[in-house]
Amino acid sequence: MSFLDIAKSRYTTKKYDSSLKIDNATIEKLKEILRLSPSSINSQPWKFTFIFDTETKKELAKVSYNNGSKVNDASHVVVFSVVEDVKDFEEKNLSLLPEKAGLYYNRVLKSRNEAEIKTWLACQVYLSLGFFLSACASMEIDSTPMEGIQSEEYDRILQQDGYKTLFAVAIGYRDKEDANQPSLTPKLRLDPENVIRSI
Ligand SMILES: Cc1cc2nc3c(=O)[nH]c(=O)nc-3n(C[C@H](O)[C@H](O)[C@H](O)COP(=O)(O)O)c2cc1C
Repeated sequence: MSFLDIAKSRYTTKKYDSSLKIDNATIEKLKEILRLSPSSINSQPWKFTFIFDTETKKELAKVSYNNGSKVNDASHVVVFSVVEDVKDFEEKNLSLLPEKAGLYYNRVLKSRNEAEIKTWLACQVYLSLGFFLSACASMEIDSTPMEGIQSEEYDRILQQDGYKTLFAVAIGYRDKEDANQPSLTPKLRLDPENVIRSI
């Protein structure tokens, strides 16, 4: 399938077939794809937690607002987290990167205030979301990105250490009657003239 066809056919799944599970080999590929996600200066300020355990999913579902049934019924939930402490990031990740990356960080980013640096770090994790959603679609895996979760409760349940939950993605296989699939609910997007400029 071409990338354009993938973009047309992928959609946010609202109802999963809970009897269908993603096999382990495919999950291992998805882990590796996430590890290979690009990020500014290769900063990689993330942690990706894959959850298959039914009891853990049940606990997370309770703190997932309207996303509870997706969390319970999807095959897996992947939680995307960002490093919590800027100093920690500078000491651990930056020291592993080539000198050039550290120079750029010190010159351009380090002088910004903490909130701005944290926003920059979170942006990197969001980029991996786009990478992941496209990868899932290319492997015919259905997905639901979810910001509608209680991230602090996720941190508590998952005993996050040094990382903070930003959002999660349910992955699995759609219920055949899921009303949100493009064949039943056509994609809604702004017209090209509203979002694309050519100069
Ligand atoms: C960062 C992000 C967070 C989202 N959070 C939720 C969510 O909590 N629950 C949900 O059902 N959909 C969520 N969505 C899905 C969007 O509503 C959806 O991508 C958008 O309406 C376009 O529809 P499509 O993905 O089916 O093309 C989220 C999407 C993104 C990118």
